[in-house]
Amino acid sequence: MENSSNVQYFADRLLAWYDREKRDLPWRRTRDPYRIWVSEIMLQQARVETVIPYYENFMAKFPTLRALADAPDDEVLKAWEGLGYYSRIRHLHAAVREVCELYGGEVPDDPEAVAALPGVGPYTAGAILSIAFNRPVPAVDGNVMRVVSRFFLLEDDVARPATRAKMETFVGKMMPRDRPGNFNQAMMDLGATVCTPKRPGCLVCPVMERCEARLQGREHELPVKSKAKKPRTEYRAVALIEGTGAHAGRLLIRQRPNAGLLAGMWELPHVLLPAPSFEGAEDALRDCPLPGGWTVVPFEPFMDIEHEFSHIRWVMRVYLAGLAEDGAAEGGAPESGAAEGGFDGNVAETRWLAPDERDRVAFPNVFIRILEEYRKRKGGGAG
Ligand code: ADE
Repeated sequence: MENSSNVQYFADRLLAWYDREKRDLPWRRTRDPYRIWVSEIMLQQARVETVIPYYENFMAKFPTLRALADAPDDEVLKAWEGLGYYSRIRHLHAAVREVCELYGGEVPDDPEAVAALPGVGPYTAGAILSIAFNRPVPAVDGNVMRVVSRFFLLEDDVARPATRAKMETFVGKMMPRDRPGNFNQAMMDLGATVCTPKRPGCLVCPVMERCEARLQGREHELPVKSKAKKPRTEYRAVALIEGTGAHAGRLLIRQRPNAGLLAGMWELPHVLLPAPSFEGAEDALRDCPLPGGWTVVPFEPFMDIEHEFSHIRWVMRVYLAGLAEDGAAEGGAPESGAAEGGFDGNVAETRWLAPDERDRVAFPNVFIRILEEYRKRKGGGAG
């Protein structure tokens, strides 16, 4: 399989192709390790086209590592809103603060130090070290594993951590010592634009002549990838609570705890339903904990919506709702405050959101979609 003349052929052809075809991307116009780091974290779960505007906006807001380290959490989370996988930005924020404390604000040109930073796994470390510091460290992600599996006809299951480790060793050996950053990025580009999962463009591939999978007509069978476990489904009831009186035009929102799923983000109050259906949803909403003895009064269903995370799928029914005190619908509204028992017994912060505050508070994608629908139907109201 991996004979040395094929390895040499692969690297030479790939780099020549990259020199001709490389994509002009904003993070390729810099050698600043901070900027490369941010781009790599953003690119881990999102496509290049999605990432570009986020990257530009993020760099305008936090142009240096120190600017990011000094920024408040909610501002940083807001700049990530919509990208998903929010633990990434929390780790990145913690990591740049660590770089300020330990290394005077400069990303260290040292594989061990970089790999020890929060949220920096072997892929990210390899990307930063090779692209910013020209060190021959592999950066193996799903794209790279697909390219390598096909070219060398490797049938190991790429969902297994052991396969990734094997690929890292292998790619590490085949990297040209003079252009490691370009080699890693060329692999990424080939995987993203030519050696794609479903319809690989073998006819325009720079290494097609010696690609073992293509030669055997098996490019569609590779890489071998065992199926991930299906996410578990949770049914949830959500309350769109419109304020009255002094809070007219506002919506009641609450902040998630500082750890766990969607940590620190804001959302509409919602409850987990006991059965895998919407049965009893309205009763469950009435039990949703709020500050100051207020009770949710669901009025009518507004929309159904689903969102899939990596391990959980939320199936949600959203209700337009109001508040009651001592069981009497109507009336005033709670001031901002804390609700005991809001999240598995933890305290949940709640507050009223005015329409013009929407751009200061970070919501998970599913709530953005609900708020957009709400605004659409209201014709430009809160949300
Ligand atoms: N995907 C992950 N990292 C990338 C990079 N540096 N350029 C293009 N696509 C990528």
